[in-house]
Amino acid sequence: MCSGMVHPNLVIDALTKGADGVMICGCHIGDCHYIDGNHKTEKRVEAIKLLLEDFGLEPERFRLEWVSASEGPRFAQVMTDMTEAVKRLPPSPYKTG
Ligand code: FES
Repeated sequence: MCSGMVHPNLVIDALTKGADGVMICGCHIGDCHYIDGNHKTEKRVEAIKLLLEDFGLEPERFRLEWVSASEGPRFAQVMTDMTEAVKRLPPSPYKTG
């Protein structure tokens, strides 16, 4: 329900199970329905970046974007950008099969 609820372990778990990339989308700063969830998200991103490095994963495999529910075209654009960025990477070292 809120980007602030996404624990860094969830991101790393997805990536180490073979996901090519993970994006967290949250409400713009000041617009979180839970007041400060997206501020928590910003802090957690720093931990996620350190974990990516520890697990030997490229930083491009993770992205945080602020996108409101009324920004359909922007959502489509950030998803397209993320997809293209991930496609430029080698296969995930955690991908099996
Ligand atoms: S409700 Fe918290 S970031 Fe959207």
